[in-house]
Amino acid sequence: MFSREENELLTRVGPGTPMGELMRRYWIPALLSEEVPVPDCPPVKVRLLGEGLVAFRDSKGRVGLLDEHCSHRGSSLFYGRNEECGLRCIYHGWKYDVEGNVLETPAEPSDSDFKNKIHHPTYPCREVAGIIFTYMGPKEKLPLFPEYEWVKLSADRTHVVKFYLECNYLQGLEGDFDSSHTSFLHCNNLKDLARLNRDGAPTLEAEETSYGMLAISIRKLGPEQNYLRLSPFIMPAFSIVPGPATAKFEETDIRAFRFWIPIDDTSTWFYILSMRDTPFTSEEKTSARSWVDSIYRRIRNAGNTYLQDRELQKTVSYTGIKAVIPAEQDGCATESMGPIYDRTKEHLGYSDKTIIALRRLLLKAVKTVQEGRESPHVIKDAESNHFSHLRSIKGVLPANAPWRQLLEGEGKSDE
Ligand code: FES
Ligand SMILES: [Fe+2]
Repeated sequence: MFSREENELLTRVGPGTPMGELMRRYWIPALLSEEVPVPDCPPVKVRLLGEGLVAFRDSKGRVGLLDEHCSHRGSSLFYGRNEECGLRCIYHGWKYDVEGNVLETPAEPSDSDFKNKIHHPTYPCREVAGIIFTYMGPKEKLPLFPEYEWVKLSADRTHVVKFYLECNYLQGLEGDFDSSHTSFLHCNNLKDLARLNRDGAPTLEAEETSYGMLAISIRKLGPEQNYLRLSPFIMPAFSIVPGPATAKFEETDIRAFRFWIPIDDTSTWFYILSMRDTPFTSEEKTSARSWVDSIYRRIRNAGNTYLQDRELQKTVSYTGIKAVIPAEQDGCATESMGPIYDRTKEHLGYSDKTIIALRRLLLKAVKTVQEGRESPHVIKDAESNHFSHLRSIKGVLPANAPWRQLLEGEGKSDE
């Protein structure tokens, strides 16, 4: 049972909150590169961990992430003029560079050095794989950027989409470590119900790792074999999950890194960064973009009851919600819990074992930061920055084989 205090601790992310402080110790996605596509393009509003910010790409292509409100008297810099390597407030013309230096204060006397005494709040940015990452924590604790697999891949081998989620980040994140729901929520063919009854209750394990946690689910495939899925959880709210059990090898070749990033306490950006060894075609990238509208809302959302079709639910699929990708069905399950689910009302069973492990891990990390110690998986030295082989794994093993064999490449990657 989760107490009210624990629920508050893990779900509140604004400045000064314990979970907010933990999240601010890591590089996290702030926006997509495509939102500020070219130098001197219009700035965009970015809301992140409850803070109002503005992102702009300057004349040299550098991205700045600034406090939204002008340091002079607070007008929104979203309406500013993006020109000649700086963002200029439209009220009295103060101009800022990407680092928050005040370049000009044209309404002040020409001999004034007022501008040198002011520094506008900004956060550092790093652009990787079509995502602009930021670090919002204390400057002296700035970590190295983790060397995940996608950091070094060429642009044609990655593509990224994001979705707006109308609920707290933790509801979405927990879904990634809820292995049993895939047999139900994502059952798109009721003829599979026999299979669903066979493997709907997997055996679960969770093991703490240097980067967070490895979640293991084990399903029986007849008396002789097991089907296993290994999914990393990465601090503070990232995951890698394997593709569907029925996918052919070519499809499983796509790997997806997922980020659950709080906009504030009750809304979330969910980023899916896909990668594979062969280039994505422009058609594939375009088709992924069609899953959402111009402001990254899913076509099926709470406002239209996810376009649920009750006839379809009786005859074809478990949910009656068509989904180009499973996240559309996940959106219904997690948003319908409410903006911040009151976990004091839940009844956790065996199938929630990995979620319990995830919450324990997060609570421990929050406490670590509260006590002034270093948060887990914050990388300070290049020697320990080796995460390019961190992947999800799925495969088949003999029924009596330990799951660890899969880490050693003993399992088959195709069912
Ligand atoms: S409020 Fe921005 S320049 Fe005055
Ligand atoms: Fe799901």
